[in-house]
Parts: sequence; structure tokens; C-alpha cells
Amino acid sequence: MFDLLVKRANLQDGRSGIDIACRDGKIVDIGPSIEGEAREVVDATGRLVTPPFVDAHWHLDATLLHGDGFTCESGLLYEGITAWAELKQTATVESYKQRARRALGWAIANGLLHVRCQTDICDPQLRQVQALIELREELKPFIDLQLVAFPQDGYFRDPIAVDAMERALDMGMDVVGGIPDYELTAPAGYEAVKTLCEIAKKRGLLVDMHTDQTPDPQSRQIEALTQEAIRLDMGAQVSASHCPSMANFNDYYADKLIGQIAQSGMNICVQPLTAATCWGVMTRVSQLYDAGVNVAFGQDCVMDPWFPFGKGDMLDVAHMAIVFGRLLSEKKKAMVFDSITYGGARALQIEGYGIEKGRNADLVVLQAADPMEAVRLRPNRLAVIRRGKVAARQEAQKASVYLPGQVLELDFTRENVMRSEGVVAHCRHCGGSHDHRH
Ligand code: FE2
Repeated sequence: MFDLLVKRANLQDGRSGIDIACRDGKIVDIGPSIEGEAREVVDATGRLVTPPFVDAHWHLDATLLHGDGFTCESGLLYEGITAWAELKQTATVESYKQRARRALGWAIANGLLHVRCQTDICDPQLRQVQALIELREELKPFIDLQLVAFPQDGYFRDPIAVDAMERALDMGMDVVGGIPDYELTAPAGYEAVKTLCEIAKKRGLLVDMHTDQTPDPQSRQIEALTQEAIRLDMGAQVSASHCPSMANFNDYYADKLIGQIAQSGMNICVQPLTAATCWGVMTRVSQLYDAGVNVAFGQDCVMDPWFPFGKGDMLDVAHMAIVFGRLLSEKKKAMVFDSITYGGARALQIEGYGIEKGRNADLVVLQAADPMEAVRLRPNRLAVIRRGKVAARQEAQKASVYLPGQVLELDFTRENVMRSEGVVAHCRHCGGSHDHRH
């Protein structure tokens, strides 16, 4: 007896009609037409089924502040940082938890079950750190939070940050963060990169730094981080986030640097939504893909001092990545979808991830036939499964269009559009489905 059986799924790799059997929180069988009883059956005929989405970069402590008596007029990074410094004076552990919990409910409903949270440690009382550590524990059955100790006001620039970093890591943060381009000088930034990577190496932690968060082509903290990843042999344990300056590097330097990044084995975590609003440029994703660098994506901001929109949906991020990054070839579009699933899992080093026998029974059933239809529609998630149990459901979305003598029922999929062209609709008189051209 299986706990759960997903029937006739389309998979990200193009296979269709695949059953996925789950028992004791794991995938125990996968293939066409699996026989056997199951406590719960999810019919996924013609629907895309993916592993959970992965957000490699979300400032969860600041989320949902936008509109709560606060707006960001320019959308620019530094207005956001100044506003955030003010806002965090009055926030409490409970208020951080309440806002983050609400947004994580949206995330779970959207099949986003792994989040790397940038958590500001520049607070003498470390309220954000305490709030997110408590929430990580509380929500463990539903979603995995990986917490970055992020010195928002600069590791050396903020006089409390050096001490706060040690205290936050002692409390149980998972990842050492940084913001080297926000230090007072470029050399201070290089020193911060070196010191923070050494701390991570000593403690056996991952590294994820905000790197060159500026369109300035002279900002080159990324090469210091690459050097440390190589020197300390940390490779895949290191991520560089944002990196918009790379878009404006001259091509000769960018080619050399991207070769070094590929050699180091480090990850690049990109935030297309705020890349568009804060800087108007996104890092060189296409070139990074070509060089074999692992790219992950993050929402970065959801209704916070930097960005007014968002709903915990990585498909919004993929859509922006493809459009804003002009990643329009079939190959690159597929790579973007890989980045919001497997690429994110590689950057976060998630164990047991993916649709394979023996992996965690974590699955998302989407109201779309394939990855690109999912990106185009950002459709309802019909079922979100965590460790073999349904954690969230949404009804299938549909629209009714009332034409003379007929009602067209649409769900915006290509298949449905074809059907409406054949004028197959529900008859107002008999309620049945038939062709009204007879
Ligand atoms: Fe960020």
C-alpha cells in the first residue's frame, strides 16, 4: 500500500504518462502504470509535475512592509536600505514572524518549499535572527528555511556587525553572508570577503554574499569572492548574489572572470525582479550558463522597502529572468526552469531533492502541460505535496466567455484555445458540450 500515488504526470524532462508512488515520505517507485493501492491518488493526467521550487535569495525579514504605512518612491537600492534602517527600529520578534509566516503561506501554496533567507544581523538585539530561527523550527514540516547571517549595513562599516555576526552564527544560522560593495572602500570590501569566507570555512558553513550590487563596472568584489572560493577550496559551498555590475564589465574582463567562476565551482544567485527595478541591468546569465556555472534565482523582495509586488511564486521570477534577460532560445528557457528547481537545490545543497526513486516525496502539480506553459501562465498549483502528504491545494482555474448562443470555457492553455476554436462549448439550453455549428 502506497501513501500517495500521482498518476500520469508530465515531467520537466519531457516524459509524460508517468506515475509516482510515495511511501514514508519518500518516492518509492516511478514509471508508467504503477500497479498498487494507495491511500490517496492525485490524477495529474496531462499536468506538469515538478519537484518543489527553490528560492535561493529572499529577504524574509523585510517582507510585507510595503504598503503598511510605507512606500518606496524611487525603487532604488539606497532608498530601500535607508528606509529599512528606520523600519527595523520598531519591529519586534513577533512582527517579523507574523509577516514572514503570512508570506510563507503564499510560498507553500505556490509549491515553493525551499528558501534561502537573507536575515539582517545589524540589530543589537538580533530580533530578525531570533524570529527566523523560531520560524524555521515551527514551519519545518512544510518548508525548509536556510538562514543567511547578512550584515546589511556592512560587516566593517557597521560598528556592531563583527560581533553580531559571531553571535548570530552561534545562535544557529546556516550561511555566512556579506555585502562587500557597501563597505566604505573597495579594499575594505576585499578584506570583508576574505574574513567572512575564513569564518565560514572554520565553522563548516556555506557562504552567500551580496556581490557588486551596483551597475558600476568598477565594482569588482566578485573576483575577490571567486579567489577565496578557490583558495579555501569551498567551490560549490559559495554563492555570489545579485552581481549586476557584471553586465557592465567590458567583454574581455567578463570572459576572464566567468572562466574563473566556472573553475571555482561557485554558484551565482540572480534576482531578476529587483535587477530590473534597482539597477535596470541583470548579470550575464546567458554567458554564465554557457560557461557551465550553476545559476539559481531568488525573489529577493516581496512587498518590502525595495519592491512593491510578489506572492511567493518562483514562476514570476522565471518569467522576468527570461524576458528581462532575453533568454529566449528553447535551451536557455529550459535552463531557467532548471534554475528555479534543480539549480536552486544545488546552490542550497539540498539533500534528497528531485523526482527520482529514493528522494523526498515533495512534488508540485501545476495546471499546465509543460515548463514553458507554466512560466507563461503562472497557473494554479493543483496540489503541493510535502513528504508524501498534500500540503496545499488549489482548484483548477477557468474562465467563461459568453458568446451569442454559447459559452466558451477557457483555461488559457494551448490545448484549450484549440478547443475553443472548434467551438466546442456548453449549450445554454441543454448544458451539454457539443459543437454549435451543427
Ligand atoms: Fe538581496
